[in-house]
Amino acid sequence: MNIKQIVSQLTLEQKAALLSGATTFDTFGIRKLGIPSLAMSDGPSGLRKQEGAADNLGLNGSIPATCFPSGSTLANSWDPAVSTAVGQALGEESQANEVQVILGPAMNIQKNPLSGRNFEYYSEDPLLAGRMAAGYIRGVQATGTVATPKHFAVNNQELRRMASNSVVDQRALHELYLTAFEIAVKEGHPKALMSSYNMINGTYANENRALLQETLRDSWGFDGFVVSDWGGDNDHVAGVKAGSHMAMPGSGMVAPQELIDAVKAGKLDESVLNQRVGEFLAVAMAAKEKSTPEKPNFAAHHETARKAAAASMVLLKNDQAILPLGAKTRVAIIGDFAQKPRYQGAGSSAVNAVHVENFVDTAAKVLNVVGYEKGFDRNGKADEHLIQEAKALATESDVAVVFIGLNEAQESEGKDRDSMALPDNQVALLEALANLKTSVVAVLSAGAPVTTAWAKDVDGLIYQGLTGEAGASALCDVLLGKLNPSGKLAETLPISYQDVPFGQDFPCQDANALYRESLYVGYRYYDTVSKPVAFPFGFGLSYTQFEYSAMSIDDAGAHFTLRNIGAKTGAEVAQLYVKSPDQNLYHPVHELKGFTKVTLAPGEQQLVTIPFDAYTFRAWDPHKEQWCQPAGEYQCFVGGSSRKLPLQGGFKVSGTVPDPQTDLPHYMSGQVTEASEAEVSRLLNLDENAVKTATDGLTINSTIGEMSHAKNVIARLVARTLRRKLDRLAAKGESSLNVLFIYNMPFRGIAKMTNGAIDQRMVDGLVVAVNGHAFRGLHRVISGYFANRRRSKALARKLGEQDCE
Ligand code: BGC
Repeated sequence: MNIKQIVSQLTLEQKAALLSGATTFDTFGIRKLGIPSLAMSDGPSGLRKQEGAADNLGLNGSIPATCFPSGSTLANSWDPAVSTAVGQALGEESQANEVQVILGPAMNIQKNPLSGRNFEYYSEDPLLAGRMAAGYIRGVQATGTVATPKHFAVNNQELRRMASNSVVDQRALHELYLTAFEIAVKEGHPKALMSSYNMINGTYANENRALLQETLRDSWGFDGFVVSDWGGDNDHVAGVKAGSHMAMPGSGMVAPQELIDAVKAGKLDESVLNQRVGEFLAVAMAAKEKSTPEKPNFAAHHETARKAAAASMVLLKNDQAILPLGAKTRVAIIGDFAQKPRYQGAGSSAVNAVHVENFVDTAAKVLNVVGYEKGFDRNGKADEHLIQEAKALATESDVAVVFIGLNEAQESEGKDRDSMALPDNQVALLEALANLKTSVVAVLSAGAPVTTAWAKDVDGLIYQGLTGEAGASALCDVLLGKLNPSGKLAETLPISYQDVPFGQDFPCQDANALYRESLYVGYRYYDTVSKPVAFPFGFGLSYTQFEYSAMSIDDAGAHFTLRNIGAKTGAEVAQLYVKSPDQNLYHPVHELKGFTKVTLAPGEQQLVTIPFDAYTFRAWDPHKEQWCQPAGEYQCFVGGSSRKLPLQGGFKVSGTVPDPQTDLPHYMSGQVTEASEAEVSRLLNLDENAVKTATDGLTINSTIGEMSHAKNVIARLVARTLRRKLDRLAAKGESSLNVLFIYNMPFRGIAKMTNGAIDQRMVDGLVVAVNGHAFRGLHRVISGYFANRRRSKALARKLGEQDCE
């Protein structure tokens, strides 16, 4: 039977059920018709399959799995082959555990360094993010597991994440935020994709036809299914109409009932439902259902994790060639993270790692270690005693290797970071050690940028990121020079948070998050306005040196010679940036358009080509609302970071002359922080794209946190209690994902996250109650409860009779 025939045999109830989750992570199956139930599982850096009661925040334990480096760390490898290897291992663990769909890669653009999930994402640049994601997808899907790039799209802050409207201009939307996904879709061919929680210019991503149908399916050729983020199907019927398929998590019979009601009321054409079911089944029926789970090859996957961590280490400083260390160098190990590594972020991506290495034990086998001292408290408490002990140990050594970084509560889904600073007690430790004769090598564990003024106090600095479970042995190889570091920064490290354009507006506190910087994200901004940075995009040192020479350019791309002029074998990430000649649209001074990683022995040279492709010369024409290729002579720059580009050459391209964007002078100059409100309003088309916030009480789209100004006194009390709890935890350096999730969730989310116990009608009643009409509202809630129970039972019985489970 082909898919069309199967769909024609399904009842309305079965079709509605097939587009709704059956449990937190599983879809419905109809075995009699050969339709499997798909098991989904997070997620980007390792399998998170929960054994007991499942929840989407990683609160309940999951089965042991290999923990790979976080997305932001992997991207520092600038090597899609590395993410393919990780994806493949992850796919194998999924197969072994009867998981058919992996909820990853996570690939939103790192728009602001404080965004809470930057550690999961790849880069501030769409080309790098897209290529890393495509590599990962190819790896996962080679095993028969389905990959799900997420969160589509323009999802860049955690505060109010389910109740936020990303207001973005068309050029940034297409050239940055969508281009990353376009590359992932066209080069990785994922069979699923997750829509994001937020609205884009006033329409929920999951209900956005222009995005899901016209762009994703019609223009990019996506042929998989779209799943909502967990609880992100604001209106399931509108979602299905727009091109979304699966409402997750399961909400009992609530979601199927909504589709059934809509079809019966003539609000949803059954042919649209049939089409979506067919599109979903095309993937589901092809997914491998394993009957005999095998044990994953954890030893081999640990090795994959180790290689990935090694390829991603970025050497940021190496004064007097302090690194690599000699075999006899006496090493003092200092810093809490050496003993208890910070190797992954918190939230739905957190993995129950099989075998986490720690540096103290690993180094004891290969380095000449004189001892270990904690040096500081990871939660930030000042402790002079710890510093003194660390100093005493350091004086007995030649080199102190000091493990610094962010703690577990500082990088988490559901919460943006408050500051880019490294905790004061760690800075104090580095200052104290700087006064000794001993050399200091700092090793930084963090999934997102921190400020680095303290770097002046150290001789060497390795940014190891969040390495996953096998970071310690990878680091030992780098410290000893068995492995030459070759990672480069996928996200700029600015000098200060003040340098981040519109940093003061982040995260946006109210419903409309204005993307005022447009294209000027990360290096696109710093390089255009020549702002000094601590460590530029694309930067990373090596134990050897590379020389770039002899560039020629033709239709195929940029060709040049790369030579290893040092004494060690090493790999260099050569990068191509292109400057547009166009004077009519605004452009950053240059943009990354290609890269390649080349390994060379001492003295070896290679003729390297970085090809041009469909993304090299295009720009979004905001007037014609389509891609254009502005004509003229483009300047191509090649080198080892966005700030060190020794080769330059011109290349003439024929094309069009777009109409000018002269009404946006500060975007033309790049001085975007000087733009007036009127200019920003023109850029973002604010009148049309911003949502109006209700002034007369709360709505179903208000967050639970916003109940602090509800008319109902109990509602106010609940919101304040939640707030107090969060503040108390924050003061202790902790956070609670559960509380954060509830605090930031809009009322409508309650109907999505209560496994069918509460439906939309009851939520409406709740909102009436919190707006001060307690009796009227509660009456609706109670009568809604009984009606929902009755209808749900009836539908569940029917589906049972129809073999839907
Ligand atoms: C996260 C997703 C995740 C899902 C399921 C959501 O809260 O945003 O990234 O895949 O939960 O755990």
